[in-house]
Amino acid sequence: MIILGIETSCDETACAILEEKNGSFSVLANIVSSQIALHSAWGGVVPNLAAREHLKNILPVINEALKKAKLSSNEIDLITVTNGPGLIPALLIGVETAKTLSYLWQKPLIGIHHIEGHIYANFIPLERNKVGVNLKSQISNLKQIQNSKSEKEKGEEIKFPILCLVVSGGHTQLIFMKKHLHYEIIGETLDDAVGEAFDKTARILGLGYPGGPVISTKATEWTSNVHFGHSMSKITLPRPMISSKDFNFSFSGLKTAVLYLVKKNEKLLSDKNFVSAVCHEFQSAVCDVLISKTMRAAKKYNPKTIMLAGGVSANTQLRQQLGASVKDELPHASYIIPDISYSVDNAVMIAVAGFFRYKSEKNKKGLRDNWKKLATSANLKLN
Ligand code: KG4
Ligand code: ZN
Repeated sequence: MIILGIETSCDETACAILEEKNGSFSVLANIVSSQIALHSAWGGVVPNLAAREHLKNILPVINEALKKAKLSSNEIDLITVTNGPGLIPALLIGVETAKTLSYLWQKPLIGIHHIEGHIYANFIPLERNKVGVNLKSQISNLKQIQNSKSEKEKGEEIKFPILCLVVSGGHTQLIFMKKHLHYEIIGETLDDAVGEAFDKTARILGLGYPGGPVISTKATEWTSNVHFGHSMSKITLPRPMISSKDFNFSFSGLKTAVLYLVKKNEKLLSDKNFVSAVCHEFQSAVCDVLISKTMRAAKKYNPKTIMLAGGVSANTQLRQQLGASVKDELPHASYIIPDISYSVDNAVMIAVAGFFRYKSEKNKKGLRDNWKKLATSANLKLN
């Protein structure tokens, strides 16, 4: 079956076309039009500007996806779209476009929770399988790979129950899945999401938006023997809630600790050794807390698979440190992470999640009428 996915919940206008054959997926098109350059001038995403850009880009992006996949509208079997949570002005552009196409093309329509999409990014075949190891270095824009087949369907390897650590710009959650499409949230952030903490910390350090990638790069520039200031060469930040017995998180205090540190040492902001030391310690504090809680939850819930999902799952230290902990402490569990190009927002993940929703839907015919009733919600719940 051929699935067309649409994602516009934040600052990426994305459309993907996915082919499913006997449970195996091929990505036929993956188009992402990013608005980062526009929003970085404002230090974060401005909802109405995002909506204006989505409106401008949505039809060209869909058109480009069909062209890349070499398909016409009548070859599409299912339309899936993110209908929450996210920025309402942004979400509405994707949802209204999907409803219009469903009505015009007479195709079934399914709304997908954005975080469900991130979780199902783990079921997308690996890029290295799709493009071949030798070709990978020649592909400069991983966001536009087309017509590539997986040698082995990644979904086959994934065993339930799954424990998934969701880390994005809007969410930080530990989710236990006994089976497909069943979610038990066993812990979540009590204040800032972890991606939000990266973004706010980068702003405090004058590093721009989005904060995750830049903090991660600066952190790699740190070495233990660098010195800065007269008396200060070691920075220690707190690991909030690392010892609490529950599986919840808190990141706003960590960001505030960086704010106080910078206020006390304002002159050092121009010293690149100071900035890289703060980035390194901040990232380590985040990883220590996330991993300690995930491992503790894993020991309680005994999952067969531990997964990472959401934009922050692109973070190299998090990917490596969690992988090492799973290997050391839970050698019988599998560790699955999304391909880097599918960690941040994209529409392939929405199409994959849509496929699993479609498979489990009892009233498939009713999906043809979904264009009349699909609702958009900024605070959509995962269930
Ligand atoms: O999932 P996503 O693309 O959008 C939301 O659903 O929110 O996540 C965006 C977040 C941003 O906060 C961004 O700073 C963070 O993911 N991010 C990273 C990295 N790449 C993106 N955080 C840490 N390290 C990265 N390499
Ligand atoms: Zn996201």
